[in-house]
Amino acid sequence: MGDNGGTGLILGIESSCDETAAAVVQAGSAALSNVVASQISLHANYGGVVPELASREHLRNIVPVVREAMARAGVGFGDLDAVAVTEGPGLAGALLVGITYAKALAWGIGKPLIGVNHLEGHIHAVLMEARQDLKEAMELPLLALVVSGGHTHLYLATQKRDLATQSDEGAWSYRNVGRTVDDAAGEAYDKVAKLLGLGYPGGPWMDALAVRGNPRAVPFHFGQIKPRPHREGISMPNKKAPASSGGPTFDFSFSGIKTAVLRYVETHAMRESVEARRRALAAMGGEKPGIEAVAGLCDAQTLDLIASFQYAVVGNLLRQTFAAAEAFGARGVVVSGGVAANSELRRRFQAEADRRGLPVAFPSLALSTDNAAMIAAAAWPKFVAGAFASEDLAATPQLRLGQA
Ligand code: KG4
Ligand code: ZN
Repeated sequence: MGDNGGTGLILGIESSCDETAAAVVQAGSAALSNVVASQISLHANYGGVVPELASREHLRNIVPVVREAMARAGVGFGDLDAVAVTEGPGLAGALLVGITYAKALAWGIGKPLIGVNHLEGHIHAVLMEARQDLKEAMELPLLALVVSGGHTHLYLATQKRDLATQSDEGAWSYRNVGRTVDDAAGEAYDKVAKLLGLGYPGGPWMDALAVRGNPRAVPFHFGQIKPRPHREGISMPNKKAPASSGGPTFDFSFSGIKTAVLRYVETHAMRESVEARRRALAAMGGEKPGIEAVAGLCDAQTLDLIASFQYAVVGNLLRQTFAAAEAFGARGVVVSGGVAANSELRRRFQAEADRRGLPVAFPSLALSTDNAAMIAAAAWPKFVAGAFASEDLAATPQLRLGQA
């Protein structure tokens, strides 16, 4: 702990998309509470997140969610050492609700305010739990894949360590070494699920259905993505994958596979069965169906298509992540974000990491999707470093993490 006193209790607040969340975390490692009010069922009727509805729901939820997080942690506002809030990236109006509330609260209780990048939060969800499981920090640098409905990014993450004390509480720094040039992986899952007549969000359904199909039935391919010019000067310790002009990059593209699935549906006369499934699910009237009921609405061809889509997407995420880890000499891999909940992804990443002798860590399912414990955890090293936000802290919808 730094010399800021207190017991390291940070209240985290997250409202960047469709979850209103609050959590109390002690010294970046122990979550005393983690409350999430999800708006999924509200947005499901529209097949995606509606920004205006999201802001309104955040307004409605923020006070009770924070109150519950404090009550479950068994602490009062006076016990807090800081208030941390997501400043971006995300939906402007949604971010604003959390930021306005956090500012007012921090000011009211006379405690510092800390702004956290949502993507950094996802990375710290894993680090927080990995520290608990492994009883020590993973070796640095780490290659972090943040893969969700809004993001597919690769970061090389490291932390300044105090050589004298070997303290691991220094500031973290990030280098963005890959990102999607179009859709995020979770977005591709959701769009493909939608065009197959499945509910929103589609990722969990696709995950559960994929095990029932043949992943080799439809061969989907990912082409090489053109290197970005500004990446030419990027320096890599291991020269196997130079990013100089013409060489491979660690970027992603998921719009092609979505189009390929659409084409497959059309050329294989699957439209009618898709519509029948959509109608059958709609007739269930808002009630969440069980997996057996949904699987019963899918023929073998559909299950094979879902399994093949997932096999290709996970394979692409895996190849790019481990190629980047090798090129940058990473000592471990962390995967986070909503898609990190995917069972095939976890299984194949673990197998590949074992094969390479690299540690890999995922968050628990509760910390894979958006939450506020990750925001409070990421705020801890900032608290120790005294990196507090000013009262000008503003919602930054396009906020980036680290340098490119
Ligand atoms: O991190 P998150 O809650 O919100 C964003 O920041 O986007 O991620 C939500 C995304 C959705 O696209 C959802 O379909 C996907 O994560 N997802 C999954 C799984 N669970 C959630 N995708 C694949 N397999 C899953 N099991
Ligand atoms: Zn997220």
